Amino acid sequence: MQIGFLGGTGIEGKGLAIRFAASDVSVVIGSRSRERGVETADRYNTILGRKSIQGMSNQEMLACCDLIFLTVPPQQAVAAIQSVHDHFRKGQILIDVTVPMLFRQGRAEYVEQEGGISNSEALAKHLPEGVQLAAAFKTIPAHVLEDNAESLNCNIFVCSDSEEARGAVIELAGILPAVRPLDAGNLITARTLERMTVLAVNLNRKYKKKGARYRIEGL
Ligand SMILES: NC(=O)c1ccc[n+]([C@@H]2O[C@H](COP(=O)([O-])OP(=O)(O)OC[C@H]3O[C@@H](n4cnc5c(N)ncnc54)[C@H](OP(=O)(O)O)[C@@H]3O)[C@@H](O)[C@H]2O)c1
Repeated sequence: MQIGFLGGTGIEGKGLAIRFAASDVSVVIGSRSRERGVETADRYNTILGRKSIQGMSNQEMLACCDLIFLTVPPQQAVAAIQSVHDHFRKGQILIDVTVPMLFRQGRAEYVEQEGGISNSEALAKHLPEGVQLAAAFKTIPAHVLEDNAESLNCNIFVCSDSEEARGAVIELAGILPAVRPLDAGNLITARTLERMTVLAVNLNRKYKKKGARYRIEGL
């Protein structure tokens, strides 16, 4: 299996890429600049201590990966998809991690989308036919992902309107140690997940921590 990152050069892509590569998954970092993709992959490989991550342009990454994380800023998600629209292939699964929020007076606030829908639902309409969308990994802080020495010890909520995509992403998430992926149902659940992230960010601020994340008891 080879997973890719559309915009894998930021902190969220970094944490996920290194965690999956450390679990022996083949990883490709995509970037708008091939050079930046290669240079970023080299840096991640140095952290990993082995050459498990490749760097490419986003277009090249889409040509060789079936499961692709969308790890760009939330307000750039549609533009990012549109810029490589014709390079997607039928059967690919896009995993959206974006959370639209802003900071006002020291607090995180959710950025409401028109019609009250989630960022995931908003970008779904821009995907080429045959590409399936899942929303997942939205509630894990990048700072935790980035510190590979820290056990994740949490749940990952996966939602999608495609049962096949949900199953594939649950299987993928289950590769990570100390992670229990949960089937969170249809894509509409992304509305809840995105807001849960805002709560976690504000709890971090209140309690002066960086690692607030979710673990459900009773399941
Ligand atoms: N930080 C957290 O704790 C956290 C938690 C959960 C979810 N998230 C979500 O994770 C996502 C990524 O966060 P981040 O902080 O890693 O993002 P970031 O560093 O701001 O951006 C990641 C990469 O996106 C690419 N990019 C930017 N604008 C683009 C555009 N118009 N088209 C295509 N690519 C573009 C850039 O890569 P190139 O210039 O190399 O192309 C950039 O390095 C966000 O949506 C955020 O909401 C973050």
